[in-house]
Amino acid sequence: MDKFIILQAIIISSLDFVSGDNVLQIQPFVFPSKSIIGKRVTVTCTTTVGEKMVFKWFRNGHVLTKGGNVDIRSYPDLSNLVIDPLTEEDTGNYTCTANARGLTTSYTSPLEVLVPPSWSQIPNDIDALSGDPIALNCLGSGSPKPTITWSRSQGENGEYITLPSSILSSVYPNGSMYLTSVDKEDEGMYKCNVSNGIGPSLTKIVMLRVIGMFLFMKCLTDSDI
Ligand SMILES: *[C@@H]1O[C@H](CO)[C@@H](O)[C@H](O)[C@H]1NC(C)=O
Ligand SMILES: *[C@@H]1O[C@H](CO)[C@@H](O)[C@H](O)[C@H]1NC(C)=O
Ligand SMILES: *[C@@H]1O[C@H](CO)[C@@H](O)[C@H](O)[C@H]1NC(C)=O
Repeated sequence: MDKFIILQAIIISSLDFVSGDNVLQIQPFVFPSKSIIGKRVTVTCTTTVGEKMVFKWFRNGHVLTKGGNVDIRSYPDLSNLVIDPLTEEDTGNYTCTANARGLTTSYTSPLEVLVPPSWSQIPNDIDALSGDPIALNCLGSGSPKPTITWSRSQGENGEYITLPSSILSSVYPNGSMYLTSVDKEDEGMYKCNVSNGIGPSLTKIVMLRVIGMFLFMKCLTDSDI
């Protein structure tokens, strides 16, 4: 943080001395909007004027050096930052600074590494007694945060259709579906879909079986004999 304040102070004081068309300025650079984990990204930092420049790169204010998946190729007039392969840890704000004859300028651009969804919690088949509360947990992680949708197999061809709003209201934002009291009509196949628009979505079909009270009593009686 301190580094940034000092840096800004230097830039502001530099600009006091240089004005007009000859201001040392970095050409804005952006990371690709689809920077997907495992892929490569390259950005170029260069200025509109100046020569024999010294470039430096920072991630979230910390100086970046060559090594691991990071390569920095600097020339007197430009510097390339190459990250290959991208990992989740590479998400952050990247600053390039250029220094020429005591003048320093900087430019910052964000990088968000996109990550396809992965399972945090896979829902399982459930056997419940009529009247029981049940929870179907379906959790996934990724970047951006995945959305979870539940659908239910309906009709003769078993097509999955979105749950009615009465049941949807019991789906929490984290993807868990709660039914406070199940009955025979709730029995069936439910599908959970975890998707964030990056890579393939994840789906799991679970079976909810509801044993009626009558049947349950009968089971007890039978086993008592
Ligand atoms: C990047 O900077 C923006 C604006 O200051 C901030 O909201 C964001 O949290 C930063 N990102 C990271 C990964 O630090
Ligand atoms: C999902 O959120 C609900 C309500 O906040 C919470 O009770 C439940 O434990 C959460 N489920 C999981 C699996 O974390
Ligand atoms: C899951 O949801 C996504 C986004 O709505 C959709 O594109 C995808 O086809 C769904 N996948 C399945 C198997 O239902």
